[in-house]
Amino acid sequence: MTESVYPTETSAPSAVIVLAAGQGTRMKSTTPKVLHPIGGRSLVGHALAAAQTLNPQHLVAVVRHERDRVAAHLTELVPDLVIADQDDIPGTGRAVEQGLDALPEDLDGTVVVTYGDVPLLTSETLTELVSTHQRDANAVTVLTASLPDPTGYGRIVRDDAGLVERIVEHKDALKIQQDTGDASVLALTEVNSGIYAFDARVLRRTLAQVSTDNVQGEKYLTDVLGLARAEGGRVASLMTADQWEVEGANDRRQLAELGRELNNRLTDHWMRAGVTIIDPASTWIDVQVSLSPDVVLKPGTQLHGATTVGVGSVIGPDTTLTDVTVGAGATVKRTDATDSVIGDDATVGPFTYLRPGTVLGEEGKIGAFYETKKVTIGRGSKLSHLGYAGDAEIGEYTNIGCGNITANYDGVNKHRTVIGSHVRTGSNTVFTAPVEIGDGAYTGAGAVVRKNVPAGALALTVAQQRNMENWVRENRPGTAAAEAAGPAAPTS
Ligand code: UD1
Ligand code: CA
Repeated sequence: MTESVYPTETSAPSAVIVLAAGQGTRMKSTTPKVLHPIGGRSLVGHALAAAQTLNPQHLVAVVRHERDRVAAHLTELVPDLVIADQDDIPGTGRAVEQGLDALPEDLDGTVVVTYGDVPLLTSETLTELVSTHQRDANAVTVLTASLPDPTGYGRIVRDDAGLVERIVEHKDALKIQQDTGDASVLALTEVNSGIYAFDARVLRRTLAQVSTDNVQGEKYLTDVLGLARAEGGRVASLMTADQWEVEGANDRRQLAELGRELNNRLTDHWMRAGVTIIDPASTWIDVQVSLSPDVVLKPGTQLHGATTVGVGSVIGPDTTLTDVTVGAGATVKRTDATDSVIGDDATVGPFTYLRPGTVLGEEGKIGAFYETKKVTIGRGSKLSHLGYAGDAEIGEYTNIGCGNITANYDGVNKHRTVIGSHVRTGSNTVFTAPVEIGDGAYTGAGAVVRKNVPAGALALTVAQQRNMENWVRENRPGTAAAEAAGPAAPTS
């Protein structure tokens, strides 16, 4: 068992139900809304991660729109997740009811409800919601926020004692105003976040009484609050001061805003942990990234996936690393790298493209205009300028000259190049794989290496050079080159 996240007297919820059945029409996307990512994780992935920190006995997601695609994504994230299908009856109340139907009938304790499209809700707030709920022995505890513009949200109506009397949906508050002229409910600025802790038995009992008799013809989960109170339950609230926590992504603009806010939180977090970020606004860090103290991130750096960076390494400017492990003291400048390893004190860039499977050893170097793929490079070896290395293995302290290419593809199959330690290759060497170069061997400039080179040998493939005297003068008369060549050289 992991250590409890709760204050004493609080127990883990029996279930968390994450609502993810909605269509998300305003995203105008072929991708279901909850699968859109921010910070390298889907919206619903954020919701599940927060829910998991509560250690619930059951974690449930309610799905309907694009059911199979959403369910596949969810079970990949949480294999033992309970998937509940919502039928054609619309509304958050119906969604929760069907979530409960997927759980044991005698479920008691606390049931928490959250939304799959609200990604910034923190585990701290959820934990406080559960502990407040249990401490005060509430039937329902709703998370609320005070918004300057409450349009679209359900309004929290309180009694004289300050307890929650009921929640009135925006459209219903509008109707009250139209029918009676009473605008007081519509004017309330404390809103329902849609996140709640319920007593399991009260929830099941009251949901059975909820009708679809309202402006939208939906089964409102919010009706449970009035009903719980009518049967004598205590209905209270917890207000969060942080509006972002209850903000949902309904369209692409809100998605971008939430992504920006999440990134602000992540850059703040890493700066507090000792990372220098020159320009947080142009630096993007995914949630799973891990950084060490004294890392420096220069402008235009994007760190994605499970990228980790060791102590004192300098990344950027204009660098994108996806699932890359960078050691300590390394420099990675203007580089695009994926699924690769960059060793301690190694140097990469500028203008370098590391494709999956690149492993650069300690103090190694991959320089300007290099592309690499599936290559292991030993300690202190350098590929400094202009080239391609793929399906290859290079030993230690080898120097690969300018413009070298591993010709790994014969048009049908890929082949390996194996280069030893302390090798020196001439500029523009082409390794026609499969081929092996022994330790301490050399190649001449322009060598096309088709046969293995033994240790310590020099491989030359150059044809004899022939100079045709006066060729330009005779064949290109009147050109600037012929002019520059001057008087004819004496021929022998
Ligand atoms: C709901 C609340 C409202 C609150 C607002 C906060 C109700 C009746 N109203 O509004 O008081 O201020 O959230 O955002 O609960 N969903 C389903 N199945 C459905 C309908 C919705 O799973 O049939 C899911 C959606 O995917 C979404 C969440 O529930 O994650 C909220 O749905 P949405 O339609 O955005 O909320 P409202 O009902 O407008
Ligand atoms: Ca919404």
